[in-house]
Amino acid sequence: MQAFDFSLLDNDLIELEHRLRQYGSKPVKDEVSLNQLFIDHLSSGGSRTRAILALAAGHSQNLSAPARLSIAASVELLHQASLIHDDVQDEDSTRRGQAAVWTVAGMSSAICLGDDLIGAAFEELALLPEPHIQQLPRLITMLSRGISVMAAGQTIDCQWTPNSHLSFDDYERIVRHKSGPLLGLPIAMVLALSEGTDDQVTRVLAGASSIGVAYQLADDLVDKADDFNHRLNGFWVLADQMTDGSDPETVLRSRFEWHLNHARESVKMLPDFCIQAFEVLIQALHHKYPSFKAAA
Ligand code: IPE
Ligand code: MG
Ligand code: MG
Repeated sequence: MQAFDFSLLDNDLIELEHRLRQYGSKPVKDEVSLNQLFIDHLSSGGSRTRAILALAAGHSQNLSAPARLSIAASVELLHQASLIHDDVQDEDSTRRGQAAVWTVAGMSSAICLGDDLIGAAFEELALLPEPHIQQLPRLITMLSRGISVMAAGQTIDCQWTPNSHLSFDDYERIVRHKSGPLLGLPIAMVLALSEGTDDQVTRVLAGASSIGVAYQLADDLVDKADDFNHRLNGFWVLADQMTDGSDPETVLRSRFEWHLNHARESVKMLPDFCIQAFEVLIQALHHKYPSFKAAA
């Protein structure tokens, strides 16, 4: 299988950063503009994983630069909006070591910026050039459903309290909703533009959601002390549920493996670029959480 050649993406990445920084409304009066808030937020870094997947997969499918950039920017704008809103919802004061938008400009401005960027994600999709225009309604529906699934997951994640006593199945369903959609969208959108069927697109989204759950499980194990009695965390859900003396960490690690296997199974019959994109995501996951590597 031909691995993605990320060195081909240098120009795309420069153009992506340029495009992202155009969004967020200009000042109305003498306030710090949403555009400036967004530029400051972007300067804290971030891996641009979703955008890079769209660009690399798009490149491998010979999509034109305008087509792959339209998808990449659209998904990245939505991702950034979700983080800005999430920090308000979680009342987290930092993001990537920098002050979260809401702590700088207030909750209302952070909510407005997130809303603005969600609109911008659709505006970027509208830039999709010929010969892909016919697929535009399909991509708009995919984006909208991704937002909807994520909103459902965030709603219930934010309603969690230490008295919720969720089952581990509930936990996995919530996490699947809140973290899954945006990982799969860039791959699914490129697939849709490469004559992928609805069934193939569904497989990509389902498989990528499993990678999302694996991310969350790894993160929860690392954060278990901080999250105790404070946040929904898979380790504590398991500990709460297991009364037979088995070790929650062992079960968590085996679920992590299950999800990665499920992800790989979901795409094994799909075009190579989907398999390759999943391997990139899984590699990034192992890189971020090295203690899961040995078990892989
Ligand atoms: C963020 O989830 C998920 C979305 C933005 C939809 P978390 O709240 O668990 O993640 P971090 O730790 O703030 O990034
Ligand atoms: Mg959060
Ligand atoms: Mg959250």
